[in-house]
Amino acid sequence: MAASDAKVQKLQGVVTPSSPAASTGASSAHGSDREWGAECGVGATALWIAYIRYCEHQRERPAFEDPFAERFLCGGKGEEVTAAMARALHHFMFMNASGTDFHHSLTLRYALPCLGRRYLRQMRHAPVPNQEVLPAGRDPLAKGVRIRTAFFDDHIRGVLGVGSHVRQFVTLASGVDCRCLRLACLQQQGVRTWLVDQPAVISAFRSRLPELEARPDIQTLAVKFGEELWWQKLMAAGFDPCVPSLFLVEGLVMYLGKAEVEEIFSEIYRLMAPGSVVMGDYVNQGFLHHPMVEPFNDELRKYSAPWTYGVRNSTAWAGMLTRCGFAPEEDVPSVELHSLLTRVKFFLIDRIGTWVPTYRTFVAVKRAAPQQEGPMGESDSMRKQGAQRFGRHHAVAAFALSLAMVAAFMRTGL
Ligand SMILES: C[S@@+](CC[C@H](N)C(=O)[O-])C[C@H]1O[C@@H](n2cnc3c(N)ncnc32)[C@H](O)[C@@H]1O
Repeated sequence: MAASDAKVQKLQGVVTPSSPAASTGASSAHGSDREWGAECGVGATALWIAYIRYCEHQRERPAFEDPFAERFLCGGKGEEVTAAMARALHHFMFMNASGTDFHHSLTLRYALPCLGRRYLRQMRHAPVPNQEVLPAGRDPLAKGVRIRTAFFDDHIRGVLGVGSHVRQFVTLASGVDCRCLRLACLQQQGVRTWLVDQPAVISAFRSRLPELEARPDIQTLAVKFGEELWWQKLMAAGFDPCVPSLFLVEGLVMYLGKAEVEEIFSEIYRLMAPGSVVMGDYVNQGFLHHPMVEPFNDELRKYSAPWTYGVRNSTAWAGMLTRCGFAPEEDVPSVELHSLLTRVKFFLIDRIGTWVPTYRTFVAVKRAAPQQEGPMGESDSMRKQGAQRFGRHHAVAAFALSLAMVAAFMRTGL
């Protein structure tokens, strides 16, 4: 029996226990409550992200180019969602004058949720300038999406670069993302791509990209995560678990439940050959619960696309990945880390102020064998990485600096 056949059979045997009953029953956060459609529920979020990419493409010096995004403007649906989210966050997440960080007047309100709640009561119904004043796609949340897009573009190019053995690229919750057409590394001879999303989004995607007909190397798979066995469809569509692969899970986990997320990452692990890579994004629990983001979460609920999953911090995320068999290699907030102060701030949020909303991107590789997490739930590699990136003396300096910042903001009389 060929090695590849043996692995496929082993996979069938190992993975079958996550049967539809197991993966759609107890593990599903929403089950049949989800709204399935290309312009409603989570489907509308794909158009939201596409609109942000469209706006970036229009800029004079874009962080990335996406000439295909304009095909998904869909009668203004993406713009509508972008504007609704920007309005919901207008008073609660705005940038400093240079546009490099959040405005300092928000810092204490995020640091102390009781101040945030008071501010929410004051500002919840305060008028928001109309969209001529608020340039489309320029809000901080859109900025986070642009940063994550550029981050994944760079890392995909790195993983599939010259001399790489990775020849398979899979995006779970691909939405209407057109990287398969716009990134040169995905056009190379021998590279195959699978894009996986719910049926309505996949058919909207294909209908606006006739060029896919001439690209047998790009396949789309219609799957409802939490209700169907996506990995079976992937294998049936020719994915080879013996060939190193890159999995991208971008903009998905926040819409799922904990058990669904862990199931997806365990299954990705089983599908991967040594040398494979997974990357994606997640939010912390602060994004689900902090008063300052309540209007944003209300808006997501109005679109029937609530965020339902977040972790405490990067350590908890690394613990989940480690339990599934991965070694985390990189985990950064999706913000412009342009200054030491900003780095310190996000380090402190991740380590101490875990109630402050943060949105992060990560890269991890397959371990030789799944590893039990340590007593503190922190993976060895993350500990090592943390130690390398940010030694103990930095942490002490960060703590001192944060005290100084609190003192400074106290003087501003918030
Ligand atoms: C925020 S969009 C991200 C799309 C794409 N990754 C991007 O960055 O442009 C979220 C996507 O997740 C998909 N999605 C969310 N929950 C899903 C589920 N349970 N099954 C299938 N797709 C789902 C939606 O259809 C939508 O396309």
